[in-house]
Amino acid sequence: ENTRISRVKGAITAIQDFPKPGVLFRDIFPLFKDPAVLSDAVSLMVEHIKDKIGSVDVIVGLEARGFLFGPMMSVQLGCSFVPIRKKGKLPGKCVQASYLLEYGTDIMEAQAEAIKPGQKVVIVDDLIATGGTMSAAVELISKMEGRVVECLVLIELLDLKGVAKLKHPFFSVLQF
Ligand code: PRP
Ligand code: HPA
Repeated sequence: ENTRISRVKGAITAIQDFPKPGVLFRDIFPLFKDPAVLSDAVSLMVEHIKDKIGSVDVIVGLEARGFLFGPMMSVQLGCSFVPIRKKGKLPGKCVQASYLLEYGTDIMEAQAEAIKPGQKVVIVDDLIATGGTMSAAVELISKMEGRVVECLVLIELLDLKGVAKLKHPFFSVLQF
């Protein structure tokens, strides 16, 4: 367990001043170069859900990097995968939630029929920073009457205290 976490953590690189001065950016893509390490990351997330939640109906992945982990998890958990995207990308009737950016706000969407009332939903993303993205996703799923049983990320940036914004159960595989 600890060896898997340290292998995954060790594969994540830190880039100074990206995307702008003063930001230390954690890059997940080195993880994807080694299938054994990627497999560790996915198993740690899948096992957490199996142990803590048991069966779930839907994994919701957040654009863009939540799309990398969500479908791999849903295949292993035997449940649906549903995307939440930035406004204007999904066809058909959509449900929206707005969230705060550094300057102004943006809107995220899910397809209206994608989640049925009462379904058990796990929200997955690569990383939580300020928590704005994750809390908007919770609001969106709540509008659709889905039950958010877990908010799950691979990486939590502790300094930014994003978890304080969440009222639902939360778990991060590793922290910086
Ligand atoms: C990043 C990351 C999370 C979000 C976390 O995505 O993948 O989705 O930011 O930040 P927050 O906790 O402060 O909301 P980004 O907005 O860069 O979008 P992208 O994955 O589509 O590039
Ligand atoms: N890495 C990747 N995505 C992010 C980060 C980061 O450090 N901060 C906010 N989104």
